[in-house]
Amino acid sequence: MTATPLADELPVHDIPALDGNNAPVRQEDVFTQMEVIGQVPADLNGLYVRNGPNAYFPPDWRYHAYDGDGMVHAVHFRQGQVEYRNRWVQTTGLSEEQSAGRALWKGLKEGWRADRPDEPLKNTSNTDVKYHAGRLITMWYRSGMPYALDPQTLETLGTADFDGAVDRLSAHSRPDPHTGELLYFDYGLKPPYMRYGVVGPDRKIRHQIEVPLPGPRLPHDMAVTEHYTILHDFPLWPDADALAAGRYKVRFHADQPTRFAVVPRYGQASEIRWFTAKPTYLLHVVNAWEEGDEVVMVGTPYRMHLDAEGRPDARRLEQTIHQRQRDFLLYEWRFDLRTGQTRERVIDDVLNTEFPVINSLYQGRKNRYSYHVLFPYGGREEPRFPGLVKYDLQTGGYIAYSAGPRYFYNEPGFAPRDGARGEDDGYLVVPVWNPDERRSEIQVFDAGEARMAAGPIARILLPRRMPHGFHATFVDQQTLDRWK
Ligand SMILES: [Fe+2]
Repeated sequence: MTATPLADELPVHDIPALDGNNAPVRQEDVFTQMEVIGQVPADLNGLYVRNGPNAYFPPDWRYHAYDGDGMVHAVHFRQGQVEYRNRWVQTTGLSEEQSAGRALWKGLKEGWRADRPDEPLKNTSNTDVKYHAGRLITMWYRSGMPYALDPQTLETLGTADFDGAVDRLSAHSRPDPHTGELLYFDYGLKPPYMRYGVVGPDRKIRHQIEVPLPGPRLPHDMAVTEHYTILHDFPLWPDADALAAGRYKVRFHADQPTRFAVVPRYGQASEIRWFTAKPTYLLHVVNAWEEGDEVVMVGTPYRMHLDAEGRPDARRLEQTIHQRQRDFLLYEWRFDLRTGQTRERVIDDVLNTEFPVINSLYQGRKNRYSYHVLFPYGGREEPRFPGLVKYDLQTGGYIAYSAGPRYFYNEPGFAPRDGARGEDDGYLVVPVWNPDERRSEIQVFDAGEARMAAGPIARILLPRRMPHGFHATFVDQQTLDRWK
């Protein structure tokens, strides 16, 4: 076990994206003996994994918070025992840089490498991580080659190209726990602007189509039900003039509708049903399911403000997205397959939440509960992620837990209890930056009924910082064992 003593002084840079607990860690560790406050439940068994940016070489450019090389952090729970480990995703870009002994790409704020049309920005694979057919799959939000990692050691096994069928794939491609398939989408600046496909549990491609779009788009997520997939076309796309000049600037077109493509899981492009909805932009889907003739999707879109004339304020939304401010709703769309009409409604506009997760066994099936990271409303202040929310989608009720102003919660994973007897019979596992103790902790909450309000039942104290990151997943032990 190696550990760097916790620095009393957190790193301070001129660049906020590298400050404090955003700063990368320099080492790959395995920790097995960690102090625990409270009790780690013996019926919590499986692997929590979270991806995030962690620059390998100290950046000498105007660093953007999304630039860092992907690093996965995993916490394995076994009968009350806990093991933590972290490892970089060994991308081909990172390998090139390690061979050169320096960073070869600069980040989002510095533009693209003209000499590398194959990889103008480094595919850091730093955004998302999911489990498919015995391997962890890391993904990048801008669509890139996915990578396969050993869930036990976190070693990068190579690219996950599924026998050459996949050359790029977006973050938030979704495994279906009911069929063992991986449903994926990708998007890009050149045609085909979007593709959708299905990989089987045998890691072989089963289906792939091009999704016809009028131009490049910026989808971030997709949704799946038992029989349908929902792909996203928001009226937010890169400005063509800026693109022609080699710059990337997104514009929101408030006079255009949102469009959702509802396609049977193995449907052809000709079978896509396009549904229109109010102009909006959505990062993350909570879940989707079928209900009679309707396909229902729940997500956390940006709150749309109106301008002086009562129209959607496009500039304000662009600014909110560009400055990564947090201003979200909980929202439902219902697509009527019989009539082709969309019905939509706000479920909750009181709390401001994002990073939704559910019990993954309910993906594509009607679920009642979702768990989100809670944010205060606010303008340009430093990001604050002080707690968690459990929503009851059936009643509109919720339980919110906030640890205090400077606490920073990451995306949790829902861990079903061994022998779980209901959707919320389990735990939330979540990395937390504790500003009072100046350390990273893995907190475990009892997700059942109203028990989340009592706070964490276990706090596992990490011997060194775990930087803030993006998306996570939880894989139960039975699923891990099935693939051993
Ligand atoms: Fe995301």
